[in-house]
Amino acid sequence: MKRYNIVIVGGGSTWTPGLLQSLCKKKESFPLARLVMYDINAERQQVIGEFAKVLFKEKYTELDFEYTTDKEVAFKDVDFVFCQMRTGGYAMREKDEKIPLSFGVIGQETCGAGGFAYGMRSIRDMIQLVNDVRELSPEAWILNYTNPAAIVAEALNRQFPNDKKVLNICDQPVNLLRSYGRLLGRDPYEFEPVYFGLNHFGWFTHLFDKEGKDLVPVIKDIVNERGFIPVDAEQRDKSWLDTYATVKDMVTDFPDYLPNTYLQYYYYPEYKAKKLDPNFTRANEVMNGREKRVFEECRHISEVGTAEGSSVVHNDAHGDMIVEVAESIAFNRNRIYIIITENNGLVANIQDDAMVEVAATLGINGPRPFGVGKIGTFYKGMMEQQLAYEKLTVDAYFEGSYNKALQALTLNRTIVDAKKARKILDALIEANKGYWPELK
Ligand code: NAD
Ligand code: G6P
Ligand code: MN
Repeated sequence: MKRYNIVIVGGGSTWTPGLLQSLCKKKESFPLARLVMYDINAERQQVIGEFAKVLFKEKYTELDFEYTTDKEVAFKDVDFVFCQMRTGGYAMREKDEKIPLSFGVIGQETCGAGGFAYGMRSIRDMIQLVNDVRELSPEAWILNYTNPAAIVAEALNRQFPNDKKVLNICDQPVNLLRSYGRLLGRDPYEFEPVYFGLNHFGWFTHLFDKEGKDLVPVIKDIVNERGFIPVDAEQRDKSWLDTYATVKDMVTDFPDYLPNTYLQYYYYPEYKAKKLDPNFTRANEVMNGREKRVFEECRHISEVGTAEGSSVVHNDAHGDMIVEVAESIAFNRNRIYIIITENNGLVANIQDDAMVEVAATLGINGPRPFGVGKIGTFYKGMMEQQLAYEKLTVDAYFEGSYNKALQALTLNRTIVDAKKARKILDALIEANKGYWPELK
């Protein structure tokens, strides 16, 4: 069986320990020869890297492992790049969330004005990353999770239109599938989803079981009766539990399909903005919670020299999905995942050059996506408005255009008012000096 060489970009990410654990768990079905962690922040990555050494000493002795800040070491002879970087770190995420909230609109990592700001920062570093990888490993698969995935996918598709080995993926559909599994008391790996939309902006239209029964109506009924919680509810912060609870409202208002949780920001922009605390946002929750926990636990494990009994290395949907996606490509397993790809008729009444999120089989030649035909007027209207926002955001980046940026923010459902959009844009420009291209 072939053994693969992989690099994790953003080795210091809070998600890396879970991913490393998934690699250990799946070493029989996706065996590795060499693993490198790469980050631009040596100090941050070192903590996770030292934890990894302890973990692999116990669970992956045959693995050739190192962590580095040297691109030459990181990107040479690589088969798969797992990319999860955050340009500007949590300090800038906090600004993305708090600046819009100070104007009374949604402040969120990937949605609305916050997602716009983060997108404008991510594009430059992601283009650089693809160029760096292609210099040393022209044939490597680049599996990207870096957010905001919709904006990153659109920008990379424009910059590298012929590169068929860059795949952008989000784990939220998998989180939802696992949560439906918990709700129904069934194995989510047996579900066959039908899904359409944009990233963090989509719907499950059907969810078939092995007998061909559609479980969407059953799930809707249970959500209406008992509400909805994430599969890993016991490990989730309050804001995520609130988010899952809102699915009940969304299913009541728009009962056709099961919504992606991120639609709450677009369906209920005023209600959600009022519920968010402008002085303590998700970034604060993460910095005080996940980030602290992960780094404390990794430091502890490298001190005691064993990862046995540690809680940082629990199973998690994110890590499992990244490894399973790579495995499906490497060994041509053709399993179904929900991925981001160019539309070209998949959603028949949406423009061809949209980067849409749909179900696809994943094999050695990449995704073979499933089309969904024509969608209804409400969904088309929602999607096209959001798509226009995404396209204009990427235009604003490449053209350095203030006007396109203002158009983008005005079209975003979380903002709408152009005078407000201008004020928010000006504040974001000030906060993002050095990260964004100059907008004229
Ligand atoms: P984090 O800040 O803890 O980790 C990001 C790491 O990337 C940091 O260690 C940072 O130093 C590093 N980094 C920044 N710029 C870099 C560059 N140019 N090259 C290499 N490394 C760089 O953030 P996190 O919360 O762990 O999230 C990491 C990323 O994964 C974010 O973009 C997040 O939105 C994304 N994410 C996406 C999904 C999804 O569904 N697609 C799921 C989870 C996380
Ligand atoms: C979901 C989304 C990701 C997001 C992640 C973590 O899985 O799909 O895109 O990055 O949640 O969000 P958090 O707020 O916990 O950092
Ligand atoms: Mn996502």
